[in-house]
Amino acid sequence: MLEALYRARFAQSAQLAVEATTRFPGGVTHDGRAATPFPLFITHALGAQKWDVDANRLIDYWCGHGALLLGHGHPAVVAAVQAQIERGTHLGGESPLALRWAALVQALVPGAERVRFTSSGTEATMLALRLARAVTGRPKIVRFQGHFHGWHDLAAPGADPDDPNAGLPADLLGTILTLPADLALVADTLAHASDVAAVILEPTGASYGTVPLPAGFLRDLRALTSDHGTLLICDEVVTGFRVSPGGAAARAGIVADLTCLAKILAGGLPGGAVVGREIIMRRLAAGEEAGDTRGRIRHQGTYNANPLSAAAGVVCLELVAAGAPATAAARGDELLAAFNQVLLARKAQGFTAYGDGSIIHLFADPAVTVEPGQVPAGLSVGALKRGGEPRIVNALRLAMQLGGADLMRGRSAFVSTAHTSADVAATAAALDDALGMLQAEGLIER
Ligand SMILES: Cc1ncc(COP(=O)(O)O)c(C=O)c1O
Repeated sequence: MLEALYRARFAQSAQLAVEATTRFPGGVTHDGRAATPFPLFITHALGAQKWDVDANRLIDYWCGHGALLLGHGHPAVVAAVQAQIERGTHLGGESPLALRWAALVQALVPGAERVRFTSSGTEATMLALRLARAVTGRPKIVRFQGHFHGWHDLAAPGADPDDPNAGLPADLLGTILTLPADLALVADTLAHASDVAAVILEPTGASYGTVPLPAGFLRDLRALTSDHGTLLICDEVVTGFRVSPGGAAARAGIVADLTCLAKILAGGLPGGAVVGREIIMRRLAAGEEAGDTRGRIRHQGTYNANPLSAAAGVVCLELVAAGAPATAAARGDELLAAFNQVLLARKAQGFTAYGDGSIIHLFADPAVTVEPGQVPAGLSVGALKRGGEPRIVNALRLAMQLGGADLMRGRSAFVSTAHTSADVAATAAALDDALGMLQAEGLIER
């Protein structure tokens, strides 16, 4: 019934999804956009809303996979990009705009003594790991189960505990130590292995806090890595400029050796950066002029500091500095409270919403005992990342879309400054209706 309703409401998407399987592997352009029975095809977006090919309006909680802190088409971002596109999309040289962009990053992110722009978050973590290995002369990397750092060879192992990646050479796998987020284990590993260049993590926990870290973890990890001469790399691709203007490390009062940035950094356009201590970043500079190319890392990239991304990034980071993260977080708090109110009222067994300001997660598994608002305890990293029992999670996603709200992968919400209290109320109503549909389907108890 639910699926039939979905197929009827999103009929044009269903048709395009058939064509997409003949053009894209798996019918999608990004693993995370895959959906059952088919993904929606979106034509345009504005503010907190987007429209699909069937002219359905949806409240959007993907918000550019977390990149759009200001929502879609923020007027100041649009104006800046429009102005820049007339002035050139690639200037074939350095630009004052990139200087302004970097200055804002340096003002916001603690420890950003130097900035190297990249084209994506994946490139940023790849470069940070290279820097760490070059500077320390050590080969190994410690990373945490389920933490996502992009798809390159060094980041892929360990990102999905239940779904190992193909195509990774065994030699390389031997240099990546994947640990649970357990400080005692990290301490033990660093005590016994003197060849660890860096520890990299998502500083609020795997998948933007879907699997939150133990209290004080980041602070203690900072101290521990310093004791061992191991670099700490904070992957703030999602959390940067969102959980606070300076990111999660800034909020925790620590300074990483290197920080990876992307998403909000470029105001919704493609872009990333590695920032950090000058003594490390100078590996990217040691050049012919310095008369010493030993230890140099060569780093190119046609679209590094691309002017369109820089134009959007400058405007966005100015608004971040003016308080955008707090505005989005306040709306996120409203949504979180509204979700849990609905779950409580419906007595939805095994359902909870939890989060961190403008990032919210829904969990749904009737076999799990959890109070609305709490993080389910005692579950594996994989189970938390799945967001619950797959059939229920998927049904909830379809039902929420039918109710006019599109959660990221059906289970998370990135809230922007464009979301209004009316959006929150409509989304909570969609959740209430969705639970009703799940009951009618016999998927959850009445
Ligand atoms: C924490 C984290 N690091 C790195 C990446 C990779 O960034 P990109 O998709 O820009 O390559 C992502 C992407 O979602 C991410 O969430």
